[in-house]
Amino acid sequence: MTAQLTSIRTDGDKIEIVNQLLLPHVTEFVEIHDIYEAHDAIKSMKIRGAPAIASLAALSISSHLSRALREDPPPAFLASNAALQSHIQAKLDYLFKARPTAVNLGAATRRLKKTLDEGVASAAGPREVAEAIIKEGKLINDEDVGRNRKMSKWGAEWLEEYWKRSGSDAGKEGLNVLTVCNTGSLATSGYGTALGLITHLFETGKLGKAYYTQTAPYHQGSRLTAYELKTLQIPSVMICDTMVGSLFQHHKIHAVAVGADRIAKNGDTANKIGTYNAAVLAARHNIPFIVVAPISTVDLDVLSGENIPIEHRPPIEACTVRGVLTPLAAEPSERKQAVVMMTPEDIEVYNPSFDVTPAELITAIVTEKGVATRRAGEKTFDLSEIV
Ligand code: MRU
Repeated sequence: MTAQLTSIRTDGDKIEIVNQLLLPHVTEFVEIHDIYEAHDAIKSMKIRGAPAIASLAALSISSHLSRALREDPPPAFLASNAALQSHIQAKLDYLFKARPTAVNLGAATRRLKKTLDEGVASAAGPREVAEAIIKEGKLINDEDVGRNRKMSKWGAEWLEEYWKRSGSDAGKEGLNVLTVCNTGSLATSGYGTALGLITHLFETGKLGKAYYTQTAPYHQGSRLTAYELKTLQIPSVMICDTMVGSLFQHHKIHAVAVGADRIAKNGDTANKIGTYNAAVLAARHNIPFIVVAPISTVDLDVLSGENIPIEHRPPIEACTVRGVLTPLAAEPSERKQAVVMMTPEDIEVYNPSFDVTPAELITAIVTEKGVATRRAGEKTFDLSEIV
């Protein structure tokens, strides 16, 4: 993984994130000093992507506790298990509220709460419980990269096999894959999910071209995916969100691969706004539609997509565009960042950050455990079998 393609870096207790609001023109690492700054970075989308926000939340708890363990005198919340429990529970609740749709954030905070509760219920004292939470928080971040590589390989191999089985010679010149949003190293702890699948195809000589939508209004595609693909030197083409239908009509596309923020038990999948549009068009053109996400993205408590909470972002984010003023100054530090208003003021805006793709439009769900498909004739998945 290239150094620039890192969403979070740590050095002992020090956590820094790349401010993704400034990418791709300026790479600025911002130190996250405490849980409030972690919450703010997630809410303001300085860091984004379901696995990355879960990692930052978990690491911020680990860092908070390791700093506390070194304080002399120790803070009051380390005086007893009861004090530690109420202190950490409040911090976890606060982090959990930063963004509602991605289940990973809730899964990470619930996992740390479990470690907390189990520690408190055991004979361990507050310092030992704190140590266990620190370890678990770091693990949440570390385990992400390994599983991304696994699911990327499963997904790429499944796709190759899909086209071989179809009997067509499609893919002989390389598989062309469309993706939405940004699901690469910037959205995860490394390698990525759907973008990982594309990277794996490239690394194994099986990729034709990667196509990606701009993904308005935050422009994860044109700012972040473009930057990652360019850095990795993967052949790629950007399209505007409105061009998916045209692309499918005029170019051979072998798959749409996307990530996920939350997958319901029946396979309905919440992902970046615009994913549903691509899925409808993929079905119309008989293009396999693949969701690539860690197993922790499956929320068995949510039976179907209508119960997934969808975040609506502030209207101003859909009325403005971020970037640097052209011509581009050679030195990044001299580049002038600008947020430009594109609309009249005070208009009414509909700005959901995610949409839900019904399971019946999804050909395969790829996790680190393997590839799930729907049974013949069925419109939904039974994901309880793989979780
Ligand atoms: O609003 P964002 O940028 O956090 O949304 C990101 C997505 O929708 C991604 O596709 C998803 O989180 C998976 S990232 C591996």
